[in-house]
Amino acid sequence: MAYQTLTVEIEDYVALIRLNRPEALNALNSQLMGELAEATADADRNEKVRCIVLTGSEKAFAAGADIKEMSEKSFVQVTTENIFSAEIDRITSVRKPIIAAVSGYALGGGCELAMACDFIICADTAKFGQPEINLGVIAGIGGTQRLTRFVGKSKSMDMHLTGRFMDAAEAERSGLASRVVPAAKLISETMAIARKIAEKSLIATAAAKEAVNRAYETTLAEGILFERRSFQALFATEDQKEGMNAFLEKREAQFRDR
Ligand code: CAA
Repeated sequence: MAYQTLTVEIEDYVALIRLNRPEALNALNSQLMGELAEATADADRNEKVRCIVLTGSEKAFAAGADIKEMSEKSFVQVTTENIFSAEIDRITSVRKPIIAAVSGYALGGGCELAMACDFIICADTAKFGQPEINLGVIAGIGGTQRLTRFVGKSKSMDMHLTGRFMDAAEAERSGLASRVVPAAKLISETMAIARKIAEKSLIATAAAKEAVNRAYETTLAEGILFERRSFQALFATEDQKEGMNAFLEKREAQFRDR
């Protein structure tokens, strides 16, 4: 399918989705968010895709929700449209792993979109922030909740109340990004990580993603029970037998998603 605000390339079972609104530093407007929800759902259905990488440009992952599109909206409009909430829900309901590869600005909705992915690899040029406070509003697509879970209350409050930016080193130190890589290698390194994930059993990666995400939605005891049941259920798959037999036979496992 052809999109106007993003591109999709599929290689080695990895879908690389690039946001592409360079004139607005990939600001998230309704067209882009609609297309992104469609592209991720499409990748989730596609048998040639086992892991997804979401990225922007060298200068910006995304500089936030599109301020031009939003500025004249009334309370009634933003409430009835419930901006971007359906799209973010569609993206977070994708079962395959999604890695955000962030270079340059990931601000406001851009930071929120990166956090809605499963984990963040960033370039040493990355700048994260929730600067909505400077516009007289607050984060609107999960930032107050997700950033707090990533970095804790103190740093999250600091970011949301001052609108300051966090650089790549601070993002890694505080747990927002899992790894920092040189900007020139962001895509090649993230694609290599995605290819590694793509080699695993799709049933197991989806189960791991679902169980880790459960940690954000439930108590420790319930989460551990959920994990235990998923772990046990995986013994009903051929991939579990293949993975364990391959280890014992000292060979590479050939997973078949069964
Ligand atoms: N919306 C719409 N357009 C944007 C944009 C945004 N969020 N961010 C940048 N642009 C546009 C600029 O208007 C500019 O367009 P023109 O050339 O037509 O004027 C173009 O992108 C390039 O931007 P700058 O000239 O500002 O580039 P810069 O290098 O000087 O600054 C920046 C970069 C610091 C990221 C700056 O653009 C900026 O502060 N952007 C806004 C960041 C922001 O406030 N984001 C939060 C948005 S609100 C939100 O996201 C709400 C939510 O949670 C749902």
